[in-house]
Amino acid sequence: MRGILLAGGSGTRLLPLTTISSKQLLPIYDKPLVYYPLSVLMLAGMREILVITNSSHLDAFRALLGDGSHLGLDLRYAVQDEPRGIAEALVIGREFAGDEDVCLILGDNIFYGQGLPATLHRAAREVDGCTVFGYPVSDPERYGVAVLDAGGELVDIVEKPADPPSNIAVTGLYMYSNDALAYAEKISPSARGELEISDVNRLLVQEGRSRIVQLGRGNAWLDAGTHDSLMEASQYVQVLQKRQGMQIACLEETAFRMGFIGMDQLRELADRLTTGSVYGRHVRALARV
Ligand code: TTP
Repeated sequence: MRGILLAGGSGTRLLPLTTISSKQLLPIYDKPLVYYPLSVLMLAGMREILVITNSSHLDAFRALLGDGSHLGLDLRYAVQDEPRGIAEALVIGREFAGDEDVCLILGDNIFYGQGLPATLHRAAREVDGCTVFGYPVSDPERYGVAVLDAGGELVDIVEKPADPPSNIAVTGLYMYSNDALAYAEKISPSARGELEISDVNRLLVQEGRSRIVQLGRGNAWLDAGTHDSLMEASQYVQVLQKRQGMQIACLEETAFRMGFIGMDQLRELADRLTTGSVYGRHVRALARV
């Protein structure tokens, strides 16, 4: 399975913060937002990852993440010039995917919780068609919402419903088997002019090839699309990190724990970080330098 990290979009709700910066490069407490979804793909076992961004921010992403080799990754880049919809990521990423299945994550989504890597590994092994990840929310009308049958199986997805059929939002994390990528080319732009990922998923639901994995209460799902959610996500990360003395989405640590890099490479990375930041001290302590 290969990863696609969608980090384009216009970020209009975050203006003026996004006048010159990509939303996904804004800070969530002590690190850029993109670290969080990237770490989720890494925890799911993905090393080949396509980062899709606007042409105006491409250089900044490259400067931050490079070709990924320092983290044992193979990072490639592609441009989405206009925000023509989340499903366009599957069209842009089709060649990159080759014969492999794909895990798509939105660059402004943060997932955290015990057992998440195991849940993702299991889901990746079993994907046939599409797998979406559901999360209970208090305001489902803001999201794509899952319609479930009595057995908890996915029977439909409705986009931003006025009268939500459930409180289960479909999160910005999706897995597709390779043949399902072609479905993104079957759909037409919606009334707002976007290729909607829910339309792709709904086609697969209709064919009985879509399932939902529920992320239970032990998990956090946050997005950072507004000023308040950006701040709340930062506070969440701050509280957990300070309380537990651990780091969320530390890429060097994730690469090491996943076995993508060894101790020698971790030491090299640690040498580049100073003790001036908690992040740097954390990586240096892990590498015992
Ligand atoms: P949105 O939050 O729906 O859109 P946006 O980031 O452009 O922000 P705003 O609504 O404030 O204008 O996007 C969710 C994520 O998907 C975000 O990480 C950006 C990304 N995205 C793209 O990369 N390309 C797209 O065409 C769309 C619609 C979103």
